[in-house]
Amino acid sequence: MSDTPDISELNEDTAAAELARLADLLARANQAYHTRDAPEISDAEYDALKQRNVAIETAFPHLKRADSPSDQVGAPVSETFAKVTHAVRMLSLANAFDATDITDFDQTVRRYLGLGDDAPLEYTAEPKIDGLSLSLRYENGRLVQAATRGDGETGENVTANARTIDDIPETLTDAPDVLEVRGEVYMGHDDFTALNRRQAEQGGKSFANPRNAAAGSLRQLDADITRSRPLRFFAYAWGEISGPLADTQIGAIGHLQDLGFQTNPLTRLCDGPAEMLEHYADIEARRVTLGYDIDGVVYKVNDLALQRRLGFRSTTPRWAIAHKFPAELAWTRLEKIEIQVGRTGALSPVARLAPVTVGGVVVSNATLHNEDYIAGRDSNGNPIRDGKDIREGDWVQVYRAGDVIPKVADVDLSRRPDDAVPYAFPTLCPDCGSEAIREAGDAVRRCTGGVICPAQTVERLKHFVGRSAFDIDGLGAKQVEMFYRDDLLPIREPADIFTLAERDAQNLSKLQNRDGWGEKSATKLFEAIEEKRKIPLNRLIFALGIRHVGESAAALLATNYNNWPDFETAITAATVGEGPEWDGLLAIDGVGAVMAASLVTAFHQQAERASIDRLVAQLDIQDVTPRGRIDSPVAGKTVVFTGTLEKMSRAEAKARAEALGAKVAGSVSAKTDLLVAGPGAGSKAKKAADLGIETIDEDAWLDLIGEA
Ligand code: IVH
Repeated sequence: MSDTPDISELNEDTAAAELARLADLLARANQAYHTRDAPEISDAEYDALKQRNVAIETAFPHLKRADSPSDQVGAPVSETFAKVTHAVRMLSLANAFDATDITDFDQTVRRYLGLGDDAPLEYTAEPKIDGLSLSLRYENGRLVQAATRGDGETGENVTANARTIDDIPETLTDAPDVLEVRGEVYMGHDDFTALNRRQAEQGGKSFANPRNAAAGSLRQLDADITRSRPLRFFAYAWGEISGPLADTQIGAIGHLQDLGFQTNPLTRLCDGPAEMLEHYADIEARRVTLGYDIDGVVYKVNDLALQRRLGFRSTTPRWAIAHKFPAELAWTRLEKIEIQVGRTGALSPVARLAPVTVGGVVVSNATLHNEDYIAGRDSNGNPIRDGKDIREGDWVQVYRAGDVIPKVADVDLSRRPDDAVPYAFPTLCPDCGSEAIREAGDAVRRCTGGVICPAQTVERLKHFVGRSAFDIDGLGAKQVEMFYRDDLLPIREPADIFTLAERDAQNLSKLQNRDGWGEKSATKLFEAIEEKRKIPLNRLIFALGIRHVGESAAALLATNYNNWPDFETAITAATVGEGPEWDGLLAIDGVGAVMAASLVTAFHQQAERASIDRLVAQLDIQDVTPRGRIDSPVAGKTVVFTGTLEKMSRAEAKARAEALGAKVAGSVSAKTDLLVAGPGAGSKAKKAADLGIETIDEDAWLDLIGEA
């Protein structure tokens, strides 16, 4: 680096240019090392570049780049671990924030199970560890596999790394033949501080908090690095299992402890919300002395038979909830308000902040929600923050809770600069200049540019390749931006992704010759794309990015229509507000008029429709049949419940039916196969009779599904 200027010789302009050069060099080096497993520079050279970057940032703090290499903690090494499909999905937990949420949770559980207010119902309460979850599979008492959660269905195989953790036994005695133990990998405070000190001494990267340190340490390609990091593990749950551990949650935890796992010593049995909240307060009071990070308390229904009956929503169990600790707060200066344009055209204001540490993490951006929020009003026009508006230059209070995007909560008027002016929310799209309008009843202003708006297009592409959509390895937000701007090998709509390899083959300007790419990484990308030509219907529907059609709606639509031709025909034939196809859409339990209208409108918009058709022509769309036993007598049948059910709540009846592969609809139509009518059934029973649909009572239903 003899031709690079000394830092003391830099001025504003040359320093900015040097920071840009370093960001570029380091990004290339990261790419080479992590994505292509082919380092281009030595570790020492890498560290020297990083240190030079920090030194210039220290001398010119205001020139620090938004994409500064010093903020990039840990390494995205995910492409390099083998994938593991979890035998039992790894779920997350619904969140609660106050006492009312906890009493509501108890009420919901009781209602679902048909338990009165006085019936006994116990819960366990234990700390929520702020680490990363890990599933350990033991076969015949030997650890055979360790996998991270990943997207819940598929995780990363980190077996070699897990074996280096002292808290994880290699062998178990008297364990069920198959036992998947699940829990949290974490790092203690002292170990975290010592690790960061060591990293600083050796010129390595430091970690923002113990959770990042634990994640970065577990997800190391070289297990020897993991071995040198002091990771720990608490067991709190299980996945596939060949024989029961106990009848209760607390018993199962005791059993895991007997098998040699660490379980959290603050795990208690509670007889209801009052005791749960007492234990929450106790854990919160001890939080600072625990020596490791926790971010709340988890409550679980203690009786495992009841847990089984309660089952799961799409991504969370009904029998557990996480009661989060209050968010952490800090004050800082709001330097600028910027507008981001989302994939549906929504103009979202973002606060650019003077960097501030909130709960151990440096925050320099926070959401401002929408224009009413900035003006100090809620969506009904009522004042929030006592009506105080938010202006550039203000001192603002920022808070963050867990992983959520930081928010601006309050503003200090006493520190408002004299020249601060009310923020004028743009009425034109900052990206494409189209008019941005706010429809009646919508809190959000939206760009009307549609497909001509580059920001919307790029955001839609990012959504398309996102984790819950096509999830293409090596094609993330950054690459999408790059390809969007690439004139010789562009990706401007989803279909272009699937013609990329073919166009590359015919192109003189090959991807492998682009900055940051090589033959290996280009081939890898083409292979990853090829792999995703085969896509399940639900993922495709979600990936289309239609407003109001989220992940669970997409899954509902897919299980209802089963295959693309039926789905496409029905939506194309539908007219908003009328006709049998429209009624058919609304008959799907969980599909409302707003979502249905958005879907139908999208399919009738010419440009959008043409783009969908071009995409579909490239794909091999996999049919989706309802999860559940295909041999059950109700699999694939559309069932409607009406009237009062006496043996189980409506919610439980619906969940059971779905678990057996039935579709549960909210209203009777020609597509209904079976009506289950309890006492007090009214218009639905009459309509079913008119349509000649089979109608049975609750006992006959239980008989049919083998539960009489
Ligand atoms: S139970 C089916 N218990 O929190 C539910 N999770 O926000 C299984 N976590 O993914 C999870 N401490 O990584 C459970 N005591 C605890 C936990 C805990 C931390 C994590 C876990 C989970 C996430 C959900």
